[in-house]
Amino acid sequence: MSRRRKITIIGAGHVGATTAQRLVEKALADVVLVDIEPDMPRGKALDLWESAPIYGYDSRLSGTADYEATAGSDIVVITSGIARKPGMSRDDLLRVNARIVKEVTEQAVKHSPDAILIVVSNPLDAMTYVAYRSSGFPRERVIGMAGVLDSARFRSFLAITLNVSVENIQTLVLGGHGDSMVPLPRYTTVSGIPIMDLISKERLDAIVQRTRDGGAEIVKLLKTGSAYYAPSAATVEMVEAIMKDKNKILPCSALCKGEYGLNDVFIGVPLQLGQAGIEKMIEVVLTADEQKALQSSAETVQSLCLTVDEALYN
Ligand code: NAI
Ligand code: 2OP
Repeated sequence: MSRRRKITIIGAGHVGATTAQRLVEKALADVVLVDIEPDMPRGKALDLWESAPIYGYDSRLSGTADYEATAGSDIVVITSGIARKPGMSRDDLLRVNARIVKEVTEQAVKHSPDAILIVVSNPLDAMTYVAYRSSGFPRERVIGMAGVLDSARFRSFLAITLNVSVENIQTLVLGGHGDSMVPLPRYTTVSGIPIMDLISKERLDAIVQRTRDGGAEIVKLLKTGSAYYAPSAATVEMVEAIMKDKNKILPCSALCKGEYGLNDVFIGVPLQLGQAGIEKMIEVVLTADEQKALQSSAETVQSLCLTVDEALYN
């Protein structure tokens, strides 16, 4: 009899709970929702389970603050963290979330030593580095979610502007998750047609900028939190690629070891995701300007990681 597959989601807030919903609606695996206090994740898990008869999924759900229940997970998704509070600097937030991600990673890997970690908590590339260091896992099993979301935003804006199906648009957004991300119009096509043939440079530049500001645009509208529908959808695309061993090429944050001329830094690059996690890191050819932008984005991530090293590991 085959073993039931299990996915743990740490942080049962907006992104965590919506990811759980999307995963069970696709019947990808059983889901364990973990948070610092036990009742809230238990309540969300129960509410989702009570939807199962209507949607017709048999994925089981549980909610807990106890990591025992996470034992033997195939994938652990980390979404725990706090949002910036008044009076808090970006560095303060970085240190607080780094401590949280370190602690939850250590707990999770104790119970699931063979899991693949997908990190969502912000600042994304630095938190993926924390999960990597705190888990002791090989780079193939520690992956950050950002590029899929940033690429989806770019695709959604292009689809509206060109009035074509979102499915027609292929793109790559590399680099760190934030102001320094690197959308690549040269690798953007509409059903195979280069994007530059279909849109003026001015309009394309404006869409690239809107993509960079995509997270902030949602925060401004929601006022009390950040995006979670598209982020959870992006996370589930990564989980599905791994669970179904699809070898799907997706841009995600991963540890570069010489690729793109970058060493020992987590940054968004195209990965082939399958059952081993990262099956392959793909190096696309970049122009000098694109390479410079990626390098500068990597330097931004490296400076955050130095702060994390001082706070956690020195
Ligand atoms: P949220 O505030 O709704 O949920 C965070 C949850 O983490 C809360 O339920 C909180 O109780 C929990 N938590 C805090 N400390 C914990 C601990 N030690 N152990 C277990 N759980 C703990 O926040 P939301 O909207 O779900 O966002 C989660 C994170 O994901 C944030 O850091 C956010 O910035 C990030 N994010 C990243 C994206 C990306 O593209 N990588 C996209 C969207 C959000
Ligand atoms: C986003 O891009 C907050 O990083 C998050 O929506």
